[in-house]
Amino acid sequence: MKIYVMEDYQKLSAKAAQIVSSQVTLKNNTVLGLATGSTPEGMYQKLIEMYDAGSIDFSEVTTFNLDEYLGLDPDHPQSYHYYMHHKFFNYVNIPSQNIHIPPGQENNTAETCHNYEQKIVNAGGIDLQILGIGVNGHIGFNEPAKYLNTQTHVVNLSAETISANSRFFSKESEVPRQAITMGMGSIMQAQKVILLASGKSKAEAIKETVNGKITTEVPASFLQLHHEFILIADKEAAAYI
Ligand code: F6R
Repeated sequence: MKIYVMEDYQKLSAKAAQIVSSQVTLKNNTVLGLATGSTPEGMYQKLIEMYDAGSIDFSEVTTFNLDEYLGLDPDHPQSYHYYMHHKFFNYVNIPSQNIHIPPGQENNTAETCHNYEQKIVNAGGIDLQILGIGVNGHIGFNEPAKYLNTQTHVVNLSAETISANSRFFSKESEVPRQAITMGMGSIMQAQKVILLASGKSKAEAIKETVNGKITTEVPASFLQLHHEFILIADKEAAAYI
């Protein structure tokens, strides 16, 4: 495990963008695993700036997003499809056929999940996975539970996650109750994993992730077992480590 504690969110975002950019420069046809949420927004912004400056080329890159809410149209402003296009994809040159986001229709079947997993395998697996972390230690939408799923699956969101994510909606009752997410195995099989954490609301989860016991009650704690796990946290998120 490598830990970078950065002065602030701007520096955290710059560090993450620098690692993504180095990866894409070294391997033009990199397969990126991408996250949404507030934490990676700064990283996407920096990557767009690098692209505008001509210092990064995404033309051979393939992407797989971690998760999507169920029941929101792709053009709903809170869907992760909308987020990714409006905060990143619309501004860089990733070919549209190389972009993958789990489908958010309500009737997702085991086959839909399996197909997503199979696409990752067919692309050669994920080279670099970007993660954020929930206040309850979730990664993707792998919520604390007695058992965790290894592969892409449909999940009921926890009360903590619904409450935390209600800040993006006009009221809590509008937050979808279910999501589709890559599983723990899909994440752990990535060659390299970067976890981004910002703000004091994440400090406890980061302590458990880095120093706690490995437990399904803190899904991110499994990252301790990953051979190339990089944590980039700002001072507030790193306060207890
Ligand atoms: C989003 C995702 C989630 C978020 C996590 C933190 O694609 O996979 O695990 O990374 O909920 O969200 P923010 O960054 O909004 O605090």
